[in-house]
Amino acid sequence: MEPAAVIAQMRQLIQIIAQHNHAYYVMDQPSITDSEYDQLFHQLKALEAEHPDLVQADTPTLRVGGKALAKFETLTHAVPMLSLGNVFNQDDLFAFARRVEERLPNQQVNYDVELKLDGLAISLWYERGVLIRGVTRGDGEMGEDITQNVKTIRNLPKVLSSAKHTIPDLLEVRGEVLIPKSGFERLNAEQAAKGDKTFANPRNAAAGSLRQLDPEIAASRPLAFYAYGIAQCQPHHGLTTMHDSLHWLTQFGFSIAERQFLCQTIQEVQQRYEQIQQERPNLAVEIDGMVIKVDDLKQQQQLGFLSREPRWATAYKFPAEIALTTVENIDWQVGRTGILTPVARLKPVLVGGVTVSNVTLHNIGEIHRLDIHIKDQVSVYRSGDVIPKVERVWANMRPEDAIAVYLPSTCPVCDSPVVIPEGEALARCSGGLYCAAQRIEAIRHFVSRKAMDIEGLGDRWAESLLHLNLLKDVSDIYQLHQHRATLLGVEKMGEKSVQNLIDAIEGSKKTTLARFIYALGIRGVGETTARMLANTFQTLDALRQANMDELKKTPDVGDITAEWIVDFFQAQHNIEVVDRLLAAGIEWDVPIAPSRQPFNGESWVLTGTLSELTRDQATQMLQALGARVSGSVSSKTKCVVAGEKAGSKLEKAEKLGIAVLSEAEFIALMHEHGQTI
Ligand code: IVH
Repeated sequence: MEPAAVIAQMRQLIQIIAQHNHAYYVMDQPSITDSEYDQLFHQLKALEAEHPDLVQADTPTLRVGGKALAKFETLTHAVPMLSLGNVFNQDDLFAFARRVEERLPNQQVNYDVELKLDGLAISLWYERGVLIRGVTRGDGEMGEDITQNVKTIRNLPKVLSSAKHTIPDLLEVRGEVLIPKSGFERLNAEQAAKGDKTFANPRNAAAGSLRQLDPEIAASRPLAFYAYGIAQCQPHHGLTTMHDSLHWLTQFGFSIAERQFLCQTIQEVQQRYEQIQQERPNLAVEIDGMVIKVDDLKQQQQLGFLSREPRWATAYKFPAEIALTTVENIDWQVGRTGILTPVARLKPVLVGGVTVSNVTLHNIGEIHRLDIHIKDQVSVYRSGDVIPKVERVWANMRPEDAIAVYLPSTCPVCDSPVVIPEGEALARCSGGLYCAAQRIEAIRHFVSRKAMDIEGLGDRWAESLLHLNLLKDVSDIYQLHQHRATLLGVEKMGEKSVQNLIDAIEGSKKTTLARFIYALGIRGVGETTARMLANTFQTLDALRQANMDELKKTPDVGDITAEWIVDFFQAQHNIEVVDRLLAAGIEWDVPIAPSRQPFNGESWVLTGTLSELTRDQATQMLQALGARVSGSVSSKTKCVVAGEKAGSKLEKAEKLGIAVLSEAEFIALMHEHGQTI
């Protein structure tokens, strides 16, 4: 047979197998019997054995994936993966349309209405039609390289082919990975049969599967990918609408969601939303709402972005499901910083497909506000479809033996007195590191994924090590290698897990300053603040020595957080721990300040008297967005903010034709970019 004929036959078999895979794994409607499928598979294999030099890159016969990874690499997205604003009812939806249409006067606006798939956003990178990379959304700027796992997803083209179109040199496709409902049930049944943990919902199952370091495990999970956008295409695809883009993608072998509508009015969008709410139980996949997008790509461009969200799209969420249940008890949990949080233990109840048995009540104030008693009937929902919350307490159904709840006077873990520091609403255990709860939480936080990322330590080891008294504080983690014999004595921990732990600890020493700052668990310093501190101060020493005023120059850091940071680095115990950590060999490269800020390199001038905010505040906001604030107006000035009684600088700006903003306009602009006073 001619090579061309062999290739044609291989391609045909690959395509037929892919179609059957889709029917089986995604639609759960096998289109042929297992033995017919095997026959096709063997036919392809035989052909490949005969012509090994013609084997196609995307053949399903090659074992997908490779070796298990130690951890995922972090990659920066060339085009950030943004989030969507939300609307929750018809009024919000119509307001969204008004905002859109006001910015596009005298233009017909069509809306592309899609399912909001409840999975995980990923980005796929194809070069000359070959799948090169798959990356998770991560924080939108940076995600994890999950190429190995992505390649195991059966309904996703590893090589693009199209009868009609030429293959782009570069194509970056965005979409959602999820496990269809049927596959989810099958997976959970298999997990249960093996005695493995079952998953609470398809989303968790998809997330867990995609984060498997071993691609063979990911390959065994019924993951599916649905495309919903094109981030980049070179040469340009020439398409003009969202609707066409998705159909164009299907011609290269991508699956798209099972419903999509093109609406000419926002009223029609509302009707489709109501229709899909009815059809939701019959869909093959879980959805948590609809996504409404302006259909015309040019109009999308005109609308642009507001902060981290497109103005041309919004999510129209389905209302949260609500369920009624009984409060069986209220416990007090002690957190990493000693805060006591009341947690209501509920009679387990199904809310939107997930069993809820605990719900946090935040603080004693919330208990009073809700007037919640043990044995009360409560209605619960999942906020943002995730976190369970008490909607209300049905006091009229309260039984006579219901029990009122009070703040305990001593810590339920270490018996130290509970205090409510002045000016605070939260109760704390005063035991500090003496309290096991605080120690274990500090360790869990320190080793967590976004902090030092020491896999396995938090979930499997932390408690045993604490009981063995091997971890008095987080710096002891880096001394654990000296206790190999003791570690081997820990129940169920063999040579391999001990070695893995020691390797993971060693591997964590090379980190970033931002992660290290976050890992320290300073009150008020979350992941974002830690990153900003790292960018502002560049070295740990500079941060340790910073005073309140210097700290407050960091975007995100106000009076209170600045004080907590100063307090942290003054406490003798913390100084010792940080020194021990550094002595153990933790290191990082000097952070690079982010360059992709919206006002990067622009020069701004403030003049006149501002009334709503101080000059310092205005300066900080501008700096946070990457602008410089200059004292004089020149032709290089981007914009002048003019307060009351502005004088010569305003005149000069007007003469040079430079943009001038009033204080109110400036505040509104800052708002749009997420900067508030
Ligand atoms: S478009 C800039 N379309 O929703 C717009 N997103 O809150 C980017 N999602 O992270 C998103 N279905 O994971 C878009 N049909 C759909 C979607 C969808 C689900 C998710 C996606 C994203 C999140 C945004």
